[in-house]
Amino acid sequence: MSLGRVFVTRRIRDAGLDLLTKAGAEVQVWPGGEDEGPSQDEVIEGSRWADVLLSLLTEPVNRAVMEANPSLRGIAQFAVGYDNIDVGVATELGIPVSNTPGVLTNTTADLTWALLLSVSRNIATGDQYMRGGHYKLWGPNLLLGEDTSPGGDGRRKVLGVIGFGRIGEAVARRAMGFDMRVLAYDPYAREAIEADDQAEWAELDVLLGESDFVTVHTVLSDETRHLISTAEFEKMKPTAYILNAARGPIIDEAALVVALNEGQIAGAGLDVYEREPEMVEGLAQCENAVLLPHLGSASRGTRDKMATVAATNAIAMLRGDRAPNCVNPDVYDSSAYAGRSRN
Ligand code: GLV
Repeated sequence: MSLGRVFVTRRIRDAGLDLLTKAGAEVQVWPGGEDEGPSQDEVIEGSRWADVLLSLLTEPVNRAVMEANPSLRGIAQFAVGYDNIDVGVATELGIPVSNTPGVLTNTTADLTWALLLSVSRNIATGDQYMRGGHYKLWGPNLLLGEDTSPGGDGRRKVLGVIGFGRIGEAVARRAMGFDMRVLAYDPYAREAIEADDQAEWAELDVLLGESDFVTVHTVLSDETRHLISTAEFEKMKPTAYILNAARGPIIDEAALVVALNEGQIAGAGLDVYEREPEMVEGLAQCENAVLLPHLGSASRGTRDKMATVAATNAIAMLRGDRAPNCVNPDVYDSSAYAGRSRN
């Protein structure tokens, strides 16, 4: 007998699908290709068919999706961020939601550092230079960048970390190898920052004004949407870089293009975009930006792990157990959840 049905909105790694099947779940994966996603109607149809929805960050999971199926027993997100899911509505309707925390921390922190080094040391530009056949002779002035370590001028560079959750903290830890000073701002983690050996607490304005590299690691919420906009770029040093491997809308992308073009800041390294996969007009032309297609957690090992964590949560939901990574745990005490599990 089937444990229940799981609709997966886009193909995830086999490690997760195999786990679901071995547990006795009936699995349906949306059949489209890698470069496309299901329409809202297709997600609604999948939700109606399923007991548990295994969602990706590319699909809005809104009231229409959740109300399509009064028997839906859970939403297992394949990502640590879950701003595509209306968790308020899920809680109201008695639906547990889970994510995949922890397993992508190091991979995403590594990628943030790859962006930092790429933009400050012209790595992406240098690669294009070689491929374009422009390299004729080593030169003392060729593609000069900025140090991350004390380097030439001997000054310890300052890394400003906004959002000191798992990923922010992991990015800060890596700065030790570059002998950097780390400032951190996170109104929800002040104690953790003050207790940290590596980071020093700083108010946002101080962090913006003193950092050579500003890196953003908050969740996306109404509070953090456009946290970095014109006024914030104006507070940054003209030699400073901004990095974002969290969520695009935390940075006002139109304001970023102005800041990059007018030399308010030196450069940007972005893995995420405000209206992903699109970029705001002018961003692609900014030569002082390194732009990646949301690769933060994109290593084989980490994507396997995310798939197995999402599947493990889905299996718990099917069994009527508490999902290990539930983000709205109060739901389990609600009458809406009790009513739903009787369906
Ligand atoms: C990726 O962006 C994630 O939230 O896991």
